[in-house]
Amino acid sequence: MTRTLIKTALASEQPFTELLIKGWVRTRRDSKNFSFLELNDGSCLANLQVIAQDDLTDYPVIQQASTGAAVAITGELVESPGKGQRWELHARSIELLGSSSEDYPLQKKRHSDEFLRTIAHLRPRTNKYGAMFRLRSRLALAIHDFFRSREFHYLHTPIITGSDCEGAGEMFQVTTLDLTNPPLVKGEPDFSQDFFGKQASLTVSGQLCGETFAMGMGNIYTFGPTFRSENSNTSRHMAEFWMVEPEMAFADLDENMQLGEELIRYLVKFVLNDCTEDLALFANFVDKELMARLQNIANKAFLRVTYTEAVEILTASGQSFEFPVVWGNDLQSEHERFLTEQHFKQPVILYDYPTDIKAFYMRQNDDGKTVAAMDVLVPGIGEIIGGSQREERLDRLTQRMAEMNLDEADYWWYLDTRRYGGAPHAGFGLGFERLLMLLTGVTNIRDVMPFPRTPKNLEF
Ligand code: 4AD
Ligand code: MG
Repeated sequence: MTRTLIKTALASEQPFTELLIKGWVRTRRDSKNFSFLELNDGSCLANLQVIAQDDLTDYPVIQQASTGAAVAITGELVESPGKGQRWELHARSIELLGSSSEDYPLQKKRHSDEFLRTIAHLRPRTNKYGAMFRLRSRLALAIHDFFRSREFHYLHTPIITGSDCEGAGEMFQVTTLDLTNPPLVKGEPDFSQDFFGKQASLTVSGQLCGETFAMGMGNIYTFGPTFRSENSNTSRHMAEFWMVEPEMAFADLDENMQLGEELIRYLVKFVLNDCTEDLALFANFVDKELMARLQNIANKAFLRVTYTEAVEILTASGQSFEFPVVWGNDLQSEHERFLTEQHFKQPVILYDYPTDIKAFYMRQNDDGKTVAAMDVLVPGIGEIIGGSQREERLDRLTQRMAEMNLDEADYWWYLDTRRYGGAPHAGFGLGFERLLMLLTGVTNIRDVMPFPRTPKNLEF
């Protein structure tokens, strides 16, 4: 007999005389003549209730099925007289696939997120993290659906790279040199003897390669892991995170803002309409304001405000911030959150940022001091998208690279796209984990990633 998923069994329109169900025991309660099992197989949030009478040949096996054990049960799917579920399974035979010992850490009680992080290999067996990672899986596919319906090509950009896209110096080095005894030239490691014959790193963004493909294939997007060694132990940063990076040929900043807004609102509507069971867990147990916030995002256009206007609003607010608000400084998360949570009470797109705080590739505005950058800020998180129109004018781009001490020789291929048919184009990066935080109300980024990578933490 083939296995039926609990999700399928619970959604059945009719009883079944025989089904095979496999899963893990969440709880077992023994009465006088029978046992109740709550079984979960990860296919959905709900458990299947199983009833085993003591006259079964396999009844002794049930008695060994403690919390955490894996079992296979055949039985009859019948209408449940109990409240809260339509179906229950009356067991006929029971096989213990794997017992679980008494020190199983997920005994029935509420566990803190901090504790569950220390057992990240077991947390998918809890309601909350099962819901989280089902949502994560479905959202990844919804992102592909969004771009496919708009004729974007899905592009795989390299993980190992020789260039620092953001210029922030947050690259993890990749090397096969013997670090205890590296070959030296003039006292420095000789990377010409390294695997690639030059210094290599893990990518911080697929953008530069993405741009070259946009300048030939039109609209593309990447969706993959990116790596940053920024040593900030915050609730919004990880060393390894996933980014969605669309790049549009022949597009300007306005169209870029439009795409970012449409993507986020599409995904919010997707979870509201298609992930109701898992979403309800977060609305009930994690964030009481989640549904109102998501409805607000789904139904209302995002505001667009220049960086300069935002600085004026923050300065006039009378709020005391830890970091001073000065035109020309980057906004901190406290500023971004003030704007979205207290001032506007909705998502805001800030644009036209000071040139000096942004990356070399952003298109220079005519005012001589700002670039066509945009950040999408959302309540509860702050920045969720960072992007820009790209500088397509070769002379402006190389001048900016010189000012930032970037070696043109390293970017010859990138500059070629401006030499041959250079055209306006724009794109952005959406942090996938920050999106999940927005959609679930979970406040620590470590709890939306299966196995989070943060400074001094490389377990699992
Ligand atoms: O603003 P960022 O640095 O933009 C770029 O990397 C551009 N090259 C993207 C592009 O234009 N194609 O990063 C984009 C987004 C941020 O808005 C944030 O959501 C997320 O990536 N992000 C992080 N998420 C988790 N941990 C980190 N350390 C992150 N750094 C950025
Ligand atoms: Mg950014």
